Amino acid sequence: MALILGFDTSCDETSVALVEDGVAVRASVVRSQQGFHEAHGGIVPEAASRVHLGAIVPAVREAMAAGGAAPTDLTAIAVTYGPGLGGSLLVGLNAAKGLAYGWSRPLIPINHLEGHIYSAWPAAHAEGRPLPALPCLILIVSGGHTELILMRQHTVYQRLGGTRDDAAGEAFDKVGRLLGLPYPGGPAIEAAAHAHRAAGGSAYPLPQAWLRGTSDFSFSGVKTAVLHLLDPSTVGRRPQADAPDVPRAIPPVGAVAAGFQDSVVGVLVAKTVEAARQCGAASVVVAGGVASNGALRQAMVTALAPLCTPLYVPPPALCTDNAVMIAAAGYFRGMAQALPHESTLVTDVVPGLALTGA
Ligand code: KG4
Ligand code: ZN
Repeated sequence: MALILGFDTSCDETSVALVEDGVAVRASVVRSQQGFHEAHGGIVPEAASRVHLGAIVPAVREAMAAGGAAPTDLTAIAVTYGPGLGGSLLVGLNAAKGLAYGWSRPLIPINHLEGHIYSAWPAAHAEGRPLPALPCLILIVSGGHTELILMRQHTVYQRLGGTRDDAAGEAFDKVGRLLGLPYPGGPAIEAAAHAHRAAGGSAYPLPQAWLRGTSDFSFSGVKTAVLHLLDPSTVGRRPQADAPDVPRAIPPVGAVAAGFQDSVVGVLVAKTVEAARQCGAASVVVAGGVASNGALRQAMVTALAPLCTPLYVPPPALCTDNAVMIAAAGYFRGMAQALPHESTLVTDVVPGLALTGA
């Protein structure tokens, strides 16, 4: 049995977890800074790294105690080294390096996006389902990324496309702010849209960018459409053929939230299903914070049904940032590939790290 201690401090969650054989969760600690950043309407990077510093050692203690593990039980330590906020990443990486050195355990540096992909493996195990079959098509939709990736063999990735501007979660957060909703915008928009529909309201139609013939996405247009809708005076700042010359009534927040969610979900689902069909995917994974969106989950189930391709969408706790996914990725990245701990201790954070084929 391989027992991996995972760390993730890429953004605003201090997470530590213990996972057996890449799938069985022994402990998962996630200390969210959400309440702290809510007051500022977004993440303040300097403040985030300071909060991580105070939280990381208690989180390790809690995870080791909850999992009933001693340092000598650990096969390896896996840690996110990018992408993310530099100061936040440094806290997790240095804590993991210190423990790897002190406990003489190998250190496995993990790409945060690879972590999001592997969140589907412990999720499938917990549900008693077969693990996702390869080739697996993965849609990562988080605050920082929107990527379509094909994995034909474990830890080898082919990027099919991604966003050309805002990430899906970023668009949710920015539109949430425009609508005066609390941070983070994703869950708030979902709740506002749901309440509006439950009260019998309809969605205000908003544009979709299809970028046909590609697996790329663009969400800045729909975000700008919301801005123009809420503040028609902004339309005149740039020449626009459809600039209104009469004041329009601004639709209710719930109608705009529902229209925005429909726009984003519609494109994400259609492009993922098309890519799955073209690649002959044996399974589809949807991961990252935005994958906790109920409308996206439901639409993906419906649209994939005719293809009979098994769909894996982890539960929300594994979609948003956590260290279970990092420990799982550490396992699949392989004991065979793990370097002796002395050599990996030189690993530095890479805030702009991309997911490569290696
Ligand atoms: O994966 P994640 O926790 O952090 C990053 O690595 O970015 O994703 C956070 C993002 C935020 O943009 C947040 O608004 C979005 O996920 N999100 C949602 C929902 N829950 C979180 N977006 C839409 N609907 C949700 N229910
Ligand atoms: Zn993430």
